[in-house]
Amino acid sequence: MEEYQAAKEELKRTVDIVELISQFVQLKRGGQNHMGLCPFHSEKDPSFTVSQTKQMFHCFGCKKGGDVFAFWMEYHKVSFPEAMRDLAEKYNITLPQKQMTSLEKEKMTLKTRIFKINEAAATYFHHILTKTNDGKPGREYLAKRSIPKEVISEFRLGYAPEKWDGLIKFLKQKKLDMDTAEKAGLIIPNKKGDYYDRFRGRVIFPIDDLRQQIVGFGGRVLDDSLPKYLNTPETPVFHKGELLFGLHAALQAIRESGRVVIVEGYTDALALNMHEFKEVVATLGTALTDNHIRALKGYAKEAVVVFDPDSAGKTAAMKSLSAFLNEGLASKVMILPEGDDPDSFVNKHGLDGFVRLLRQSVPMFDFFLDMKLSQGGDQIEGKVRALEDILPILSQLKNEALRSYYIRHLAEKLNITESAVVIELKKWGTTPSYKSHVQGSREARSNSSVRNQDDQYFMNLLIHHPQIIDRLMNQDLKVILSDPMIKEIFDTMITIYHTEGEISPAGILEKLEKDPVRERFREAMMTPPIFSNDMVEQAVNGLESKVHKIKMAESSIRARQQGDLERANKILEQKRTRENQVL
Ligand code: GTP
Ligand code: MN
Repeated sequence: MEEYQAAKEELKRTVDIVELISQFVQLKRGGQNHMGLCPFHSEKDPSFTVSQTKQMFHCFGCKKGGDVFAFWMEYHKVSFPEAMRDLAEKYNITLPQKQMTSLEKEKMTLKTRIFKINEAAATYFHHILTKTNDGKPGREYLAKRSIPKEVISEFRLGYAPEKWDGLIKFLKQKKLDMDTAEKAGLIIPNKKGDYYDRFRGRVIFPIDDLRQQIVGFGGRVLDDSLPKYLNTPETPVFHKGELLFGLHAALQAIRESGRVVIVEGYTDALALNMHEFKEVVATLGTALTDNHIRALKGYAKEAVVVFDPDSAGKTAAMKSLSAFLNEGLASKVMILPEGDDPDSFVNKHGLDGFVRLLRQSVPMFDFFLDMKLSQGGDQIEGKVRALEDILPILSQLKNEALRSYYIRHLAEKLNITESAVVIELKKWGTTPSYKSHVQGSREARSNSSVRNQDDQYFMNLLIHHPQIIDRLMNQDLKVILSDPMIKEIFDTMITIYHTEGEISPAGILEKLEKDPVRERFREAMMTPPIFSNDMVEQAVNGLESKVHKIKMAESSIRARQQGDLERANKILEQKRTRENQVL
């Protein structure tokens, strides 16, 4: 256990939280901290804060926060030991071997076991496709679609042979258990209490996550039979609505260009890759969700959604507009000629043709506007209907300049006055997502204004000038603190001071046990100092005299209750004199 602790400490020393989080979230320096859009909840204004000096993150919006381990656990949805293991691997730190043996292995979570079995399955499918006779139909199919060897090996494409137990035999040979294979969605129980392979006679597209762990598979038939594609069902690691095919492979290109192109199909993503266009990901046949966009916005400044004009994809793309606006990622649409998808288009017109068309992509909001306006027609009823569709979306636009630009644009197109648009827009000032955002921030604001100023001052002083503990601990500070959480922090602080002779914010945080209290304290840690060094003395005096005043008033009341009016008055007089001195 000691060794384990040592490894944990070494990791803490090695991993820089700003460097680590920057790999997943775009951070900008702002004052003492780094700020970005929170990867854990929807927001348009950055409230996700990372502190290099404190090696801590905290989101002022959703209150999630902690150290490098906490980030990794939350971001990758893993347990603490798993986060240790991942970070140790990433930063080349050896974990004590003992930790990895018997007990840990036994406890190895289901997710880890699923990843392992998926990995084995991917190896099997890839081997079948590339090395065996059974893989011939798959090879021929991919050749027909002109997918070259390099792409096959980069994406580890595979083939599931036309057999009921091809994979099962392989997994058994590798001594992997059937129960996990079933939970991974690779095999299906039959009526006889046995299993059969889910994927048969299909070309296999492995789907990985950002850590290149295989979360599931897509499998395509070789002919026109149905279903055309079969995916891994929902498993503990496979959530279709959150995954993007090819994200890991595209990451570097997305970072470099600041742009991500989103297509609908595996083969579209592969065809573009084949033409050396790398900044592309594919959804797994689902609509784009907030989750998808959140996964992308850490790397891309702009997303281009590709669809062909007569498909249901058009409606789907339009549905994603709200999500893009909500998440604050700029979005464009690229419109293909009728009958083409990205795969067929890039194969016909080459990379140049694709890039030329890409340059003509239009902001998704413009596209949406024009579509609605043209649907409405020239009659006033049509215009009103168009306006009703457009306003709720327009009200989600955060950027004031953009909003006023579109208001003018709308007014012109509909041939009405701008103020009429503004008046109508006010009615929509509260569409669900917009409303929740506004309410969220209003709540946060009122929350902090309700917060007692003494509580704030006390915490801020304590965090930025811990040496004042010497003076504060002898004061009955609790009489001026109103938030029970702050009182608890005060108690903890005193206990630590008594046992260790000094306090530090990090040390206090470690000792706080309840989550809400920790959140409260972390938030205070991330708040910049209110008092400059030469103001500290005065601030502490202020707190002290307030305590004194309250104590005097209390004892005066007590004296009065006991019938000792003379003492009560004396105390009041002392109190008044003291107040005059302070003033
Ligand atoms: P190809 O015909 O091979 O070019 O496929 P495509 O990628 O062009 O497929 P399509 O545009 O028809 O569909 C886009 C995506 O939707 C696919 O990549 C799949 O992820 C998904 N999809 C399509 N058909 C099915 C299906 O029958 N079942 C499931 N589960 N998903 C499908
Ligand atoms: Mn296609």
